[in-house]
Amino acid sequence: MNPQASELNEILKKEGPAAYELLSELGKNIFFPRKGLVAQGLDAKGRKINASIGEAKEDDGSPLRLSPLAELVNLPPEDIFSYAPSFGKPDLRDVWKKKIIEKNPSLGSAEISRPVVTNALTHGLSVAAYLFADKKDQIILPHYYWGNYRLIFSEAYGVELKTFETFTDQTSSAGFNTAGMKDLLMSGGSKKILLLNFPNNPTGYTPDKDELAEITDIIKTAAEAGKKILVITDDAYFGLVYDNKTAVESPFAFLADLHENVVACKVDGATKEDYVWGFRVGFITFAGKGLSTKALSALEDKAAGRVRGSISNDSHLAQSLLLKAYNSPDYSKEKQRAYNLLKNRFELVKNELEKHPEYEKEFKPLPFNSGYFMCVKIENGNAEAVRQRLLDAYDTGVIALGDLIRVAYSSLPASQISELFANLYSACSDVSE
Ligand SMILES: Cc1ncc(COP(=O)(O)O)c(C=O)c1O
Repeated sequence: MNPQASELNEILKKEGPAAYELLSELGKNIFFPRKGLVAQGLDAKGRKINASIGEAKEDDGSPLRLSPLAELVNLPPEDIFSYAPSFGKPDLRDVWKKKIIEKNPSLGSAEISRPVVTNALTHGLSVAAYLFADKKDQIILPHYYWGNYRLIFSEAYGVELKTFETFTDQTSSAGFNTAGMKDLLMSGGSKKILLLNFPNNPTGYTPDKDELAEITDIIKTAAEAGKKILVITDDAYFGLVYDNKTAVESPFAFLADLHENVVACKVDGATKEDYVWGFRVGFITFAGKGLSTKALSALEDKAAGRVRGSISNDSHLAQSLLLKAYNSPDYSKEKQRAYNLLKNRFELVKNELEKHPEYEKEFKPLPFNSGYFMCVKIENGNAEAVRQRLLDAYDTGVIALGDLIRVAYSSLPASQISELFANLYSACSDVSE
């Protein structure tokens, strides 16, 4: 093992033992190479003659750049063309940390790490898996989950996705199946990895505040029983909650200071929150009652080490654009406009379903209150056949997942919502068995 990795592990053993025990073999071995090339580059910084950087410069010392590109973006060339640090742009990391704290008041005075920038959430989840998940491990999660988890966790790291039934029953007023989650958390073995994604893809469900309190209590009970628990929160759709009962804050806020045996790992980012799907900017942030400041920064080093070993560093242009937007006086107003647009579509979907009780003969909505999506369960027949029929006869595209149809109302103009559900009803009737 590289001595720099051992150094980080020694810090974690003393100042964050649960985090150390939860690390995978790869996670134990990874480190951010502060010595070597990076250190030599820092030594050379600011020198009259600096021939240390793997970038090309103009004769005036600014980044060598091609004018058709430079003309497109109104930012200093250093914020566009140069490499960003593997940890991410420092100011962006600080702004994002401040935002996490502001948007999650229940964090109170709990300490959280400085977010490390990832190539959006997919990569953040992959970094979390690299650090913590071994082949023999299971990840516990509700059975309605984002399908890409299979590639990120199972195919890449050989981890088993161990699911529990998501809802308490099959009705649209069902709640989150906390009992199912508890059974798996309390099952044999001391290392537990729990993955929570609220608002959820595909269902568009977020637990209400009482359910979230119950989830937190269950995690605490399992920790008190001696389980070492890593909770990964996939907060891709954070903030898009459309009613007052539903929990707005991330579970991360309640786990950051819960118990010495609990380590919380928040994966979030600008992709959906700031409507920049193609930018590829996400963050991974750690917290835990048993983790000192030094332990948190050891985890940051390990995460940044994996970033360096996978993508080297994230797009500087995308990070700079976001930082600029976050400091813009129009940012909050624009975020509100986007939220209102999506909330209005959510309400139109709800109204449409209420207006047409006959739709329930063909499909029943699962609970939904947040995010980009809602799902309906096909009552008579096959969701894939319904999807095909919608394409062929109604010029309408949706996603079929097992016996569910997922509707991304986030992407539908308000004027098409009524027609979509009418088409869905007709397509279901057409293919009804
Ligand atoms: C639940 C969930 N997590 C993560 C992601 C990935 O987001 P990103 O595009 O930032 O990688 C998605 C994207 O659809 C998602 O639905």
